[in-house]
Amino acid sequence: MSLENRTVLVVGRGSGIARAITLAVRAAGAKVVVAGRDRDKLAAAYADPGITAEQVDLADEASIAALAERLGAVDHVVSTASARARGTAQALTHEAVLASFSVKAVGPIFLAKHFAPRMPADGSFVFFSGASARKAMPGMLAVGGTNAAVDAIVRGLAVELAPIRVNAVSPGTIDSGAYDALGDEAKSALFANREATSPARRIGTVDDIAGVVLFALDSTFMTGVSLAIDGGEPLV
Ligand SMILES: NC(=O)c1ccc[n+]([C@@H]2O[C@H](COP(=O)([O-])OP(=O)(O)OC[C@H]3O[C@@H](n4cnc5c(N)ncnc54)[C@H](OP(=O)(O)O)[C@@H]3O)[C@@H](O)[C@H]2O)c1
Repeated sequence: MSLENRTVLVVGRGSGIARAITLAVRAAGAKVVVAGRDRDKLAAAYADPGITAEQVDLADEASIAALAERLGAVDHVVSTASARARGTAQALTHEAVLASFSVKAVGPIFLAKHFAPRMPADGSFVFFSGASARKAMPGMLAVGGTNAAVDAIVRGLAVELAPIRVNAVSPGTIDSGAYDALGDEAKSALFANREATSPARRIGTVDDIAGVVLFALDSTFMTGVSLAIDGGEPLV
């Protein structure tokens, strides 16, 4: 696909899935604006004049509105931002659950509110859900609930913002760095178990996901869809 003369906003960190998307979109010819809570850290992650860094906090409508005001028109908006709240009902705090919904499910509503009026009719949004919306597991209540909300919000926004398209990508286990905090031993054990049981028999890569984001940006007859890119994990 060609994204020549297009501007794509990618919200998230300077590593993991957001980085793979940024590099893929840039390779397709787009100018990329990367945005996250720490602008300087993001700017330091890229050495390419076609990639500029901005500050945004998706839990804060005023911050989203200010970003839209600074950027003006963009063609596509992708958000990978997430404040994952893992834990059972006994362990979760009210604050962590609200943060999860606020960043990943509510944030997209306000990205739509402030960016859609500045986007062309052939623009689009890509938000992030996750396989836990489709597979219940102990400790994944808030993550799964947040992801299910994203799936519903994407359908609602697709109807409201038409003809601007709105889709989601819903990954399974991806080696994005998100599991590094478990420590090498626990991460290896988790990945070995998922590799053995998942129908794809492997862990996903950040490039698996970046390729699907390009597909979503380019597929002008697709809207309101949450694409399950999960190696079939929820099936078993
Ligand atoms: N990796 C997986 O296996 C997997 C599985 C299912 C779904 N997903 C979803 O795929 C997406 C990308 O995953 P990932 O593993 O690459 O990244 P991730 O570890 O989920 O990182 C998401 C990033 O969002 C940023 N963020 C948090 N709160 C924010 C806020 N208020 N405003 C703006 N940014 C905020 C944080 O970056 P800073 O710390 O730099 O601020 C955080 O590192 C996420 O939505 C994730 O839930 C991933």
